[in-house]
Amino acid sequence: MSTPSLGFDTEMTGTQRVNASEKRLINAHQVDVNQLMPLKYHWAWEHYLNGCANHWMPTEVPMTKDIETWRSDKLTEDERKVIMRNLGFFSTAESLVGNNLVLAIFKHVTNAEARQYLLRQAFEEAIHSHTFLYVVESLGLNEGEVFNMYHEVPAITKKDEFEMNLTREVLDPDFKTDSYEGIQTFLKNLIGYYIIMEGIFFYTGFVMVLSFHRRNLMTGIGEQFQYILRDETVHLNFGIDLINGIKEENPDVWTEEFQQSIIDLIHEAVELEIAYAADCLPNGILGLNRDLFRDYVHHIADRRLERIGLPKQFNQSNNPFPWMSETMDLAKEKNFFETRVTEYQSSSGLNWD
Ligand SMILES: [Fe+2]
Ligand SMILES: [Fe+2]
Repeated sequence: MSTPSLGFDTEMTGTQRVNASEKRLINAHQVDVNQLMPLKYHWAWEHYLNGCANHWMPTEVPMTKDIETWRSDKLTEDERKVIMRNLGFFSTAESLVGNNLVLAIFKHVTNAEARQYLLRQAFEEAIHSHTFLYVVESLGLNEGEVFNMYHEVPAITKKDEFEMNLTREVLDPDFKTDSYEGIQTFLKNLIGYYIIMEGIFFYTGFVMVLSFHRRNLMTGIGEQFQYILRDETVHLNFGIDLINGIKEENPDVWTEEFQQSIIDLIHEAVELEIAYAADCLPNGILGLNRDLFRDYVHHIADRRLERIGLPKQFNQSNNPFPWMSETMDLAKEKNFFETRVTEYQSSSGLNWD
């Protein structure tokens, strides 16, 4: 049996070269997880390169206009609430994702190229947490209010508790992925974080904050959210590949009963998200209200279900925020920090003597 934290079998190490075909996403006992090459899961490496190509820092985004807007009377109380609630939700959610990644997921993924991506993602989650500190400091917000919403605002508490329950099971020191139940519990954690947290819970927040950006309000936060959305798109895509890869390697665990338990989990999450949107928008604001978010959450939940091979549940074909896909396409094409990228490229020829 391998040592899970290192993921290699001491008897094998040093005696045999890694054969890529023996690599496994979980429960790899035949190969040394410390050998990156030869690659087997090229998608993991591609996601890693995409993440690196998207590097950004929150402090590179000027906040002057946001500070002016926040101090002016341009925003209504309802609009301020939308911004504050999302800062509160994301500030803790980023930590939950980062901790789950490092403490629960990393240990049980026994593949070097997938771990390489996880290390990159963990750093990106740190950048995202940094963003919320930077926004709170720039706007002079009450940090206690923002960073305590997860236990003071019930709509946020419920979403976070839902996620923390999924982490708790995997954090149990006796937890292992070498049984059907173990693999199912691990898949539930991956689906809970990649599909539900990063793929559903984050998206209403993206719509809310980016809708201000579209109105030319709070554009600094808007730009930061565009970068976060771009990163999270890669996180979601990596998660889908990881989940589908584990399913392929362990087809026996994907039973009808287990599929139904995942569908139930997504139904539960969708209700929590609709309640969250209602809490953020008690009276609605320009272009946003609770009913539109119900449709939107149903729409994206079906898309996520399909990506992991599960049937649609909500049949909401209409996306009430079609501009979100434009924003995502723009983010992909936009040449971020062009000058700095050039500097990086020219420094690649540095001499180290
Ligand atoms: Fe994040
Ligand atoms: Fe993420």
